[in-house]
Amino acid sequence: MTDQREITILTGDRPTGKLHLGHYIGSLVNRVALQEKYKQFIIIADVQALTDNWEHPEKLKKNILDVALDYLAVGIDPNKSTIFIQSMIPQIAELTMFYLNLVTVARLKRNPTVKNEIQQKGFGQTLPAGFFVYPVSQAADITIVKGNLVPVGEDQLPMIEQTNEIVRSFNRIYNCDVLVEAEALIPKFARLPGIDGQAKMGKSLGNAIYLSDPIDVLSEKVMSMYTDPGHLRVQDPGKVEGNVVFTYLDVFAPDSAEVAELKAHYQRGGLGDVKLKRRLIDILNTFLEPIRERRKQLEQDPEYVMNIIYEGTQKTLAVAENTMKEVRETMKLNYFHQ
Ligand code: TRP
Repeated sequence: MTDQREITILTGDRPTGKLHLGHYIGSLVNRVALQEKYKQFIIIADVQALTDNWEHPEKLKKNILDVALDYLAVGIDPNKSTIFIQSMIPQIAELTMFYLNLVTVARLKRNPTVKNEIQQKGFGQTLPAGFFVYPVSQAADITIVKGNLVPVGEDQLPMIEQTNEIVRSFNRIYNCDVLVEAEALIPKFARLPGIDGQAKMGKSLGNAIYLSDPIDVLSEKVMSMYTDPGHLRVQDPGKVEGNVVFTYLDVFAPDSAEVAELKAHYQRGGLGDVKLKRRLIDILNTFLEPIRERRKQLEQDPEYVMNIIYEGTQKTLAVAENTMKEVRETMKLNYFHQ
């Protein structure tokens, strides 16, 4: 990251429900830190959420509120970050249409994240065009505010790559420097495994710990965590690698010396899974408690939360229209006022 240029952050999430620890480690922690130094826009990508859930637009309102509550609960400060809703910025849709001419179907087919999702969802011949091209729409999300830094999880890297290809094509074809390239910011622990040991934590995978989980749900989830299937008796030596409890301790325990000690004890035998998990519950709860409490308070006043998003959307609209004016001008689409 070079500090010479002005940095504008554009980041965000699809509103599919409450956010979990994977979101926190993957990007929220970076966003909370970065807002202190840089201009940050956070998009709640409801249009993108529709690309695989178009039959249920009525779910979006609640999901948007849930995501916004989680943002505010973890410390996204509306005085420092601008939270907005994608569908309320028509300029994003407009820009997406122009970008679609600069991208080949073959290139879209190669996008590994989309490829994966298409397979997971089993679309086959019923693949909706809207889903297929959502990376192009995401390029518009980023470039409409001239975002040049994007704090996201590593699964989003192909999106940034594709965005930059579009930026370069646009600037070359229309012979301008209107658009700016973006850089992804991936955290040290880019990916938190699910409680079941799968590589990724996800809502649809049913293996997530939510930021808003009450203590009893948190305890239950940790108690069911994948450890070492060969570690049957307390006195047996256990494996640390691939043991989800230790992965979480590595990420969340404030005292790394304690974690090293627990690892050594587990490996030589004599440390039971239940005892180990109790310690993790403690550590996670200490982390989650203030977030949970702050969220509960905010839940009392959804209008206040929606108003924050409204204000953020108004602010983003002005920025977006400025960018579109430049885009239309470079493309010679300014027919009426020269
Ligand atoms: N694709 C992201 C996700 O699945 C959400 C998203 C939409 C996004 N537009 C974005 C992320 C722009 C970063 C920048 O969560």
